[in-house]
Amino acid sequence: MKKTLTLFTLLALFIGCDNEPKKEKFSYKRVQETPTEQKTSSSNEVVLNSNDQMLFDRSVIKVKSGGSVTLTLNHTGKIAKEFMGHNFVLLKETTDVDDFAERAMASKDSEYIPEGDETYAYTRMIGGGESDTITFDAPEAGTYIFLCTFPGHYQVMRGEFIVE
Ligand code: CO
Repeated sequence: MKKTLTLFTLLALFIGCDNEPKKEKFSYKRVQETPTEQKTSSSNEVVLNSNDQMLFDRSVIKVKSGGSVTLTLNHTGKIAKEFMGHNFVLLKETTDVDDFAERAMASKDSEYIPEGDETYAYTRMIGGGESDTITFDAPEAGTYIFLCTFPGHYQVMRGEFIVE
């Protein structure tokens, strides 16, 4: 860090005669830092990890209503999706979880998403090392269920999606 700073100062000194480039470099640095801080505090960006142990790393996801949600599902394991597939499926409040999951099991051709209008959003089915990112409108305030619909997973791989 110190080395970089010294180099920077030297560079600045070299260009010193001309004031313009020096100013530009400093303002560029500052602009880069500010958006990162705002991002973490105010937007609905969710990262959900899943693994070879058939687990999500979160059982509760909280977002704010009235905006969009960008959700990234990562599969941090190594097993292929045919054997350890994971997705994120957000159910509507009117959807019966057990019934939905049962029909999902029989829907292999559509990546285990049964036909109908029973979800708010869902990702692709992914395997080890893969990721998928989706963006959708946050449902109105309430508590919803999210799950993985790969056969045999939903009893463990499920949680609460809370919109505040
Ligand atoms: Co799964």
